[in-house]
This record gives sequence, C-alpha cells and structure tokens, in this order.
Amino acid sequence: MTIHKAVIPAAGLGTRFLPATKSTPKEMLPVVDKPAIQYVVEEAVKAGLDDVLLITGRSKRTLADHFDAVPELEAALEAKGDLERLAKVRESTELGHVHFVRQGQPKGLGHAVLQAKHHVGQEPFAVLLGDDLIDERDELLSTMLALQERTGGSVIALLEVPPAQISMYGCAAVEPFDGAADPDQVRITALVEKPPADEAPSNLAIIGRYVLHPAVFEVLENTAPGRGGEIQLTDALATLAGLPASEGGGVYGVVFRGRRYDTGDRLDYLKAVVQIAVDRPDLGPDFRAWLGEFSQTLSD
Ligand code: UTP
Repeated sequence: MTIHKAVIPAAGLGTRFLPATKSTPKEMLPVVDKPAIQYVVEEAVKAGLDDVLLITGRSKRTLADHFDAVPELEAALEAKGDLERLAKVRESTELGHVHFVRQGQPKGLGHAVLQAKHHVGQEPFAVLLGDDLIDERDELLSTMLALQERTGGSVIALLEVPPAQISMYGCAAVEPFDGAADPDQVRITALVEKPPADEAPSNLAIIGRYVLHPAVFEVLENTAPGRGGEIQLTDALATLAGLPASEGGGVYGVVFRGRRYDTGDRLDYLKAVVQIAVDRPDLGPDFRAWLGEFSQTLSD
C-alpha cells in the first residue's frame, strides 16, 4: 500500500524558546522568511504525502491561519501588481490537504500521535516533528518510506551524536539485517528515552521522522506515562520492536548523514537560519559577504 498520510505534531509547550513561544507555537517561528512548519509540510508533500494532519495545541489559530487563504492581503497584493509576493502568500495554501486535530493537553509526543488514530485508520503513515527541519537538499523521508514498504514494520530516523549528548535524545540499540539496502539501514533491537551517557546502548539518537505501522495506536493506548510523566513515542516503539511482524512489530532505522536542525533549540535555530540563508539565491550573496566581514570582527 502506498503511504500518503503525514502526521505533524505541533502541540508541545516549547518551553526552551520562551518567551517567544508564550503565545506563538515554536513551529511558527520564522526560519529566514517561512515558518518552520511550512518547511516540514513541504517536505511531506515532496515525498508524496498529500494528506497532512497537524496536531495542534493551545495556540492553534496561527498555525491554522497560515495554511488558509487571506483574501484581503491577496487582493491588496493583486491590486498592487505584486505577483511575486502574492505567489509566496499562496504557497502555503496550495500545498495539499492540511487537516487539524487538537491535543487537549500536552501529555507527550506519544499522546500527540494517538490523536491521529481516527484520521489515519489502518494504514502505515509518516510522522514529522514540526520543529525538526531536514535540509531540503538532503534525502531522508523517501528512503524511510521505501524501507517501510519493504519490511512492513515501522521505521525511525537516527543521527550519530557525540556520546556526551545522547542523554538529550531517545537512543537506539541496532543490528544489521538481511535485505538492508546499505549499512545505514539497521534493525532496532531496543530503544531507551534520554539515557545517561554511561548507560546508552549507542550514540544513535532518534530524530523527528518516523514511518509507523498502524499497530502503534493500540500500543500507545496501552503505554503508561514514562519519563517526565509523558506518554513517550519511544516507549511505544520499544514495544513494537519486540512484537512479531504478524502483530505489526519490527522496527528499522535509517542513519541520516545530512543536515538537520532542531528549531525548538535556540542555538540550533540560529544555525538553521544562517545555513539556510547563505544558500538562498535572493539573500545569500549579500548575507555571505556580511557574514565574512562579521566573523573577522569576532577573531580580532
Ligand atoms: P519537544 O519535546 O521538542 O517539545 O517535542 P516541547 O515539549 O514543546 O519542547 P520544550 O522542551 O518544552 O521546548 C517534540 C515534538 O512533539 C510535539 C512538539 O510540538 C514537537 O514538535 N509535542 C510534544 C506535541 O505535539 N505534544 C506534546 O505533548 C509534546
């Protein structure tokens, strides 16, 4: 079955980015001139996922408005003949079918994904975290979709991180498996959420892209709150990894070697803005020239 649904959780509290996220979801913070969430929806659509469900929280309105038409603004730009800006305004409206469902309380990523059960039904689906950007020049999601179709299980994205940083992530124990397209495709044998460095089974961190078997919903319904009192997606995936294929089990990983930015983290957010801006044809040349001069002043 071809996967065509994407679920994008965007209901977290975003406490690392306060006070900017007091009344604005972190997924709406601009990365150059587009909110982070638009890059994520564009990535889903580019991979063929034309049915997108956003899981929203308290500040749902700005997110919903961004994917809706704005007749007054569009009419004003049209009257001025500013077709370039008009096209930019319309880009987010024309991306595909974007739906919304509310997560009443931020009870964790697993709980957020569970809100998609009714919309998704009994098909495999992708989950893209709304604050996690994969550089559009690097390939990840379509490799994961292909691996899910080949194995029939669930697939997660992994990133090698310095061992001292693994305690900030979910961590995977892995092994090779027959049928892997390359050594960066692995089978997951165990998963642990934010382990202390000396107890981590590897330096492979789980990042915000998943392709999940629908069996995950039943597992999530039976997953007790874990770390931080939240229902953790990692705990549900650990259960799935131990289930037989006949029950929707089996979890595989794709090690990603490209550029990824966690825009919910202030330092990573700044790096994302700079790295994306330097390569933009409209801003890049001027920004690079300025950045070169500016970095000189730092070494003085
Ligand atoms: P994070 O752990 O990065 O989100 O969740 P957070 O809790 O908002 O972050 P901080 O630590 O307080 O800054 C990863 C993703 O899961 C979503 C977030 O919006 C983000 O996209 N999420 C998290 C939910 O949708 N619901 C939740 O209950 C928790």
